[in-house]
Amino acid sequence: MGLACGQVRFVLYGRERNGTGLWTGKICGMGERGMGLACGQDPELVRNICRWVREAVKIPFFAKLTPNVTKITDIAKAAHEGHADGVTATNTVSGLMGLKGNGAAWPSIGKEKRTTYGGVSGNAIRPIALRAVTAVAKAIPGFPILATGGIDSAEAGLQFLQGGASVLQVCSAIQNQDFTLIDDYITGLKTLLYLNSIDELHDWDGQSPPTIKTSTRKTCT
Ligand SMILES: Cc1cc2nc3c(=O)[nH]c(=O)nc-3n(C[C@H](O)[C@H](O)[C@H](O)COP(=O)(O)O)c2cc1C
Repeated sequence: MGLACGQVRFVLYGRERNGTGLWTGKICGMGERGMGLACGQDPELVRNICRWVREAVKIPFFAKLTPNVTKITDIAKAAHEGHADGVTATNTVSGLMGLKGNGAAWPSIGKEKRTTYGGVSGNAIRPIALRAVTAVAKAIPGFPILATGGIDSAEAGLQFLQGGASVLQVCSAIQNQDFTLIDDYITGLKTLLYLNSIDELHDWDGQSPPTIKTSTRKTCT
């Protein structure tokens, strides 16, 4: 395991002292052997890390989930059992950017043109993130979800709210443009909610209207 209990405590105490109100720790990112990704794929490690965090700080914390697992609801349940305040769904999806016609990788580094697997983000991963959010909302009703993955418009954000998320996070779209798009999304969301005759969100926890219904012939886990 790449992260010791003591290190988790150290980082968190720093955050709490600095007055950061919410910690969204990712138990998922780094792909190196034994690092974040490996931790985030093991329910027992996720449960234990969340328990350490819960013991260490009073501020709310969300465990950020990797989508690179077979059953994301098992990982979310482990975070819930470890007393996380919620989960962030999801981090980037493992991918290989591309190979040219001659087999050379793109992007590639150095004379040997080496490449590596990396995290895919942006609207390409929205269906994966949406599936994760709806599955977690269905599996653990009432457990707060911070949705992220391909939110690049108000309409995309609304999809996640309707799928069971309470909060939205935007990353790639901001990197592609700038922070002003948040104002656009807020205006867009207000407009969409108005058009849908939902006047205000103050008592809506994101779990209602209920999450999507799936075909009775298919299991949705
Ligand atoms: C360049 C880049 C750096 C990122 N760094 C972090 C990070 O340090 N911590 C983290 O939790 N997520 C990190 N992420 C993941 C994003 O927070 C987000 O979960 C993911 O990109 C999906 O959202 P998006 O499609 O809006 O980008 C990073 C993503 C990108 C593209």
